[in-house]
Amino acid sequence: MNQVRIGIIGTGSISEWHLKAYAKNSGAIIAAICDLNEQRAKQIAEKYGAEKTFTEYRELLADPDIDAISICTWNNTHAELCIAALQAGKNVLVEKPLCRTVEEALLIEEAVRVSGKILQVGFVRRYDSNVQMLRQFADNGEFGDIYYAKASTIRRLGNPGGWFADIERSGGGPLIDIGVHVIDLCWYLMGRPKVKTISANTYNKVGNRSHIRNLSFYKAADYDASKNTVEDIANALIRFENGASLMIDVSFTLHAKQDEGSVKLFGDKGGFEVDPAVVIVTEKYNTILNVHPQTDSPSFHFESAFQNEINHFIECVQQGKQPLSPVEDGVEMMRILCGIYESAAKGEEIRL
Ligand SMILES: NC(=O)c1ccc[n+]([C@@H]2O[C@H](COP(=O)([O-])OP(=O)(O)OC[C@H]3O[C@@H](n4cnc5c(N)ncnc54)[C@H](O)[C@@H]3O)[C@@H](O)[C@H]2O)c1
Repeated sequence: MNQVRIGIIGTGSISEWHLKAYAKNSGAIIAAICDLNEQRAKQIAEKYGAEKTFTEYRELLADPDIDAISICTWNNTHAELCIAALQAGKNVLVEKPLCRTVEEALLIEEAVRVSGKILQVGFVRRYDSNVQMLRQFADNGEFGDIYYAKASTIRRLGNPGGWFADIERSGGGPLIDIGVHVIDLCWYLMGRPKVKTISANTYNKVGNRSHIRNLSFYKAADYDASKNTVEDIANALIRFENGASLMIDVSFTLHAKQDEGSVKLFGDKGGFEVDPAVVIVTEKYNTILNVHPQTDSPSFHFESAFQNEINHFIECVQQGKQPLSPVEDGVEMMRILCGIYESAAKGEEIRL
């Protein structure tokens, strides 16, 4: 296959990153755009020179001219769109989270298997060049056995409203929306160990804080603060079968002094931080060293990671290669996320 003809479904906030990156990849052609909101679809099609626009995704999928699609819609549509696209013979890049439930995830996995097409899950953090560098260090045993990880993504004011805050369409709140990024990042860098137990809590105490003035925050394309059926904050302790553990907390709203993002992993030979900036911690000649790798960006660089993610998808489609973030990992992440919600609802530790 030479150039890959792309259809984009969903033209809200995240789609712009897909579009910008496809536009810069000479192996991709942005051929069609689809959104329920026709005006939005047409504006984007004009901006990126796409020939066709649709409001009904099935019409886009029926077009034999499209080789692959990016799914950039609400989480409740991911399973339906992935399965329909795979059955229509399209390769799929689906935004995180893969879907809302483990049942949906297993249906997608089956559709991938039957179709033989590529499905890449949009775990964009994996495609950050610092993460790939750290993964190489980890794979070569520089940190020894990574037995503990700790990640935090705290927004004090950051409930995006609209579908994000509607559990029917999102499947959950900050955990499934932003927690998925750092849980996947830790799990991937720990070598994808098998989960044994989860003990978690969710809280719904302060609401979406839409009354706050003078401080702006990220909002859904169709922002609406009137409905909020998701948690404000989730925390969890995940224990793996190899004895390692992961602690996370993640919020949309919290009476915190400031937003915070930290991702730290600890091994028996060394440790490292990914967020807020890359640091490697090690020992030499009875001395502790904090090593700062010299790279283009010491902290997560969204634009270049996105470009890498899109370039990788195009390469996988062209060469029939298995993606770095395959459906199986999307399924495992749904087991973890849903396990966290289940443990919190039961008020006790659960065993996977
Ligand atoms: N990778 C990241 O860092 C990142 C960041 C933000 C969002 N996301 C993910 O991207 C997806 C979209 O989020 P967003 O922030 O762009 O939301 P958004 O609300 O800004 O945009 C979603 C768009 O999808 C459209 N849509 C919904 N259902 C549709 C359907 N059946 N057919 C056609 N169009 C449909 C809506 O009309 C809207 O324009 C979500 O799964 C979200 O988790 C990922």
